[in-house]
Amino acid sequence: ADTGIISIEERTDQLEGIGCKRKRVEDIRFTQGRGNYVDDVKLPGMLFGDFVRSPFAHARIKHIDKDSALAVPGVVAVITAEDLIPLNLHYMPTLAGDVQAVLAHEKVLFQNQEVAFIVAKDRYAAADGVEALAVEYEELEPLMDAHKAMDANAPVLREDLAGKTEGAHGPRTHHNHIFTWTAGDEAATQEAFDKADVVVKEYLAHPRVHPCPLETCGSVADMNPITGQLTLWGTFQAPHVVRTVASLISNIPEHKIRVIAPDIGGGFGNKVGVYPGYVMSIVGSIVLKKPVKWIEDRMENLSTTAFARDYHIEAELAATKDGKILGMRSHVLADHGAFDACADPSKYPAGMYHICSGSYDIGAAFCSVTGVYTNKAPGGVSYRCSFRVTEAVYTIERIIEVLAIKLGMDAAELRQKNFVQPEQFPYTSAFGWEYDSGDYPTAMKKAMDAVDYDGLRAEQAKMVEDFKAGKSREIMGIGVSFFTEIVGAGPSKNCDILGIGMFDSCEIRVHPTGAAIARLGVKSQGQGHETTFAQILASETGIAADMITIEEGDTDTAPYGLGTYGSRSTPVAGAAAARAGRKIKHKAQLIASHLLEVHHDDLEWDVDGFAVKGAPEKRKSMKELAWAAYNNVPEGMEMGLEAVDYYDPPNFTFPYGAYFCVLKIDVDTGVYKIERFYALDDCGTRINPMIIEGQVHGGLTEAFAVAMGQLIDFDDTGNVIGASLMDFFLPTAVETPHWETDHTEVPSPHHPIGAKGVGESPHVGGVPAFSNAVNDAFRPFGGVQTHMPHTAANIWAYAKSLGMTD
Ligand code: CDP
Repeated sequence: ADTGIISIEERTDQLEGIGCKRKRVEDIRFTQGRGNYVDDVKLPGMLFGDFVRSPFAHARIKHIDKDSALAVPGVVAVITAEDLIPLNLHYMPTLAGDVQAVLAHEKVLFQNQEVAFIVAKDRYAAADGVEALAVEYEELEPLMDAHKAMDANAPVLREDLAGKTEGAHGPRTHHNHIFTWTAGDEAATQEAFDKADVVVKEYLAHPRVHPCPLETCGSVADMNPITGQLTLWGTFQAPHVVRTVASLISNIPEHKIRVIAPDIGGGFGNKVGVYPGYVMSIVGSIVLKKPVKWIEDRMENLSTTAFARDYHIEAELAATKDGKILGMRSHVLADHGAFDACADPSKYPAGMYHICSGSYDIGAAFCSVTGVYTNKAPGGVSYRCSFRVTEAVYTIERIIEVLAIKLGMDAAELRQKNFVQPEQFPYTSAFGWEYDSGDYPTAMKKAMDAVDYDGLRAEQAKMVEDFKAGKSREIMGIGVSFFTEIVGAGPSKNCDILGIGMFDSCEIRVHPTGAAIARLGVKSQGQGHETTFAQILASETGIAADMITIEEGDTDTAPYGLGTYGSRSTPVAGAAAARAGRKIKHKAQLIASHLLEVHHDDLEWDVDGFAVKGAPEKRKSMKELAWAAYNNVPEGMEMGLEAVDYYDPPNFTFPYGAYFCVLKIDVDTGVYKIERFYALDDCGTRINPMIIEGQVHGGLTEAFAVAMGQLIDFDDTGNVIGASLMDFFLPTAVETPHWETDHTEVPSPHHPIGAKGVGESPHVGGVPAFSNAVNDAFRPFGGVQTHMPHTAANIWAYAKSLGMTD
């Protein structure tokens, strides 16, 4: 109802709630250089720690001469594995059930592995100490090719696991074997393949890349010897989990540890795990009784902290001759590096890879993933995706293109023929996931109309004709990708990390004047949570978003939550925020009923307060109700206006999208130009369309980076190539194409406000769109599969292999 003074519309606008293109409130400090990052933490007497790292990928440590570094002015301590052994800290548990060396003991297993920690008065003295430390090594044969990891004569990498035939995820059959994990129905899938008219099989490599956030990892540990309190600032996507792990490793009681994740300059999965640097800053502070800071440089970040992908996939599809897909199968060889430090829910060593049947109604499916050790850096994190979803979507979206070639069908048409239909939702996939909602045909049609798909195919055909007639040296590719993500980990029935269910939380406290503070268990790394969570709460409570402070990342004040990755913030913490807001509203309704002297059922909510049904002028605004909560509540009711909600979702959410990439290639140089990129996303209810657009731009840029250039490569002796920004492709505004964004909006039926995650969708859907575009350009010339990264050199080499250039 109108209040007589301000209309409903005006009051709704003032809230800046769900659906509003609210400007990002955090940008006020970011754009003025006033962010507060870990490296901005400066404490009195603070020391600086730096690592001595191995020059070899595989070597025995013969001797470390500590005195060589201790002689350097300013160096106060040299810590090696020998010093950590009495504390039982030379190994730490990983999130994947393995252990990882904090400092190498006896052997190094990858280049740049941490060998000693030098603590000095400042960063420069520490660097000098690192230079000075004399370490004697005996080189061993490195194992760099995952395909050879399980050969009978492959070198033994993990001597610490000698004789261990049981791993965290089942039996180990070889000294370099980590696990073999399967999902789906193998026999039913074999049956589908047996009766199919057409079968395709292709090897698809998803090379090793790195999330490469602009801010590298770092921490500052301050162990107070008087109070026994440890304060740890760090680049943590999941600060509460870090506190629990720190307590378990160190035996410091959890209430004596305060973990603070201040502003974070991008995470993309790189800042989920626990790194030796975090542990060593703590050890340094305990030993030296002073705060110790550790900050990585760029090369350390790229070469030692968590990599992503490195999946070697054999994918198969079985179909009828008119293109109905009957079965899908894939076998993955996963290169996990020297330690299994994947960040996945405990039950799923390959994350959500078993979403690889994609957006299609496939009767039978099976996948297996075998993880192996090699002499490479550990990790295996979800680089802007929900636990191996990018790999899964790449698998189905590439192999369906290969099937289209075999059938002589159009790739978009083949997809449409196999889509899960709107009336099939909730749809249970052959792998057992229950897709919550969607309308794929509508999204696909909207996208195809927007790009004028038929027009593009006609243009492509004309270019093929010109090329074949010798009139042009340019070819054109149209990359189609239709993806389904699985985000919002997660239901505790499916997901836990070290036994803690993957719920999330929100606590809101409304002050007497009607302003509020809300704290959440997740942690923004640039996604704009301070802006968008306030919008959810504004719509739910009638308190203007500008009147709500959002705080995350301090374990002393925020409620426990599992952190931000896998686009889980909106599906999980966003739901907790909505429900906490509803609890506030419920209490406010009882107070309104008391003040207005009517039964609470006779009240109705109107934007920012409660009014008597049929008498809208009799109302109490949330501002008035907040005041009353502190002086005039119904008898028997507690004073104050606070609520907390811990939300364990009933299911994941399944955002989806249709992406089209159009590019042209000069076959004689391999130089390409992205002519057009159109992205339609459906993330259910849209909280802030402007932030969604920003998330899509960012995710597409990282998809472009991965598909077209990023690679962490190694030479045969184990030297890491690509560990600086001279070699590792980080696109700037110069290389990045223009993005066209669009949407449909099918809400999630189980989320309190119908929202699904979106931050990672553009990455997941984008990678195959680019790769398909490159491959599609070669289809008319007999091309089937060329691998990422699609650098000009690789594209040119492929054109040459097809005899198109010399
Ligand atoms: O977990 P993470 O924050 O990385 O991902 P997300 O839940 O997809 O959210 C990324 C950003 O997009 C947040 O600021 C969300 O509030 C916003 N978003 C939105 O406005 N509407 C949605 N349906 C989903 C996300």
